[in-house]
Amino acid sequence: MTITATTQVFAVMGNPVRHSLSPVMFNQAFAETGYNAVYAAFEVTSVQDAVNAVRSLGIRGVSITIPHKVTVLEFLDEVDPLAAEIGAVNTIINRNGRLIGFNSDSLGAVKAIEEVTRLDGKRIVILGAGGAARAIGFGVQAKGAGVTIVNRSIANGETLAKALNADFTPLQDLHRLDADILINTTSVGMTPDSLRSPVDDTVFRSGMLVMDIVYAPLHTCFLRQARNTGCMTINGLSMLVHQAAFQFELWTGLPAPTGVMQQSLTTGLNFAEGEDSPS
Ligand code: ATR
Repeated sequence: MTITATTQVFAVMGNPVRHSLSPVMFNQAFAETGYNAVYAAFEVTSVQDAVNAVRSLGIRGVSITIPHKVTVLEFLDEVDPLAAEIGAVNTIINRNGRLIGFNSDSLGAVKAIEEVTRLDGKRIVILGAGGAARAIGFGVQAKGAGVTIVNRSIANGETLAKALNADFTPLQDLHRLDADILINTTSVGMTPDSLRSPVDDTVFRSGMLVMDIVYAPLHTCFLRQARNTGCMTINGLSMLVHQAAFQFELWTGLPAPTGVMQQSLTTGLNFAEGEDSPS
């Protein structure tokens, strides 16, 4: 596609961002749909300066990543109610100079589950109490699911459970819980620690839906344990694709080419894994 004077500009802003797969994925998605736009990566230290630049340069949409997802809120004109509840924004749209923030991590996780099953009335156990657990907890609650937080540190787990008005169970008691859906939001099992799982085999029950947000590797130890016990599984790529698809649709008003986006991410992840391997 030719870049012209009317080409719209989108970007990811974070620190670090040089490993980000988003530029390749979004540029392929723009090419696929014929949308006249480019997507770049900016490594930013001052999120306030970066947001000012978005305003002054007329950048149309931004993905916000670590470590700016919380800080960015105070510099926006409006924040979607779910993102405000979560207290983190990873998506900005520039509507005629008004910057509006959303949390597509939460919406992407919800969509990944809803592709497989309804959420209302389901008992969901969330493993972990960090930012991802918070985003997913508020997202699934908004869809009518009941949440229990399970975490290694009791203090962190109880703090998140209180914010969600949900139950808390210590990690060692996880096997006592009866869940419809079990979600790992910890980083345990992520490359290069891919032989580890946050739990032992006794926590899985046949018929449970089990989701991992770790996407490198795609086939985590946690998901292998789940499949061996007869559980259905959702891998980390699903949430990643759906959160990006939400951003694409918000920014362009077009249906996201999810097949192309998923393929782009898979290729990028395989390449990164190959780069990390010893040979
Ligand atoms: P993010 O914001 O990306 O979700 P985070 O804030 O670093 O990540 O949260 C990591 C979560 O993984 C925490 O809940 C952490 O548990 P603690 O609160 O006890 O620290 C959990 N976690 C990290 N390593 C873990 C491990 N080896 N076993 C169990 N839980 C672990």
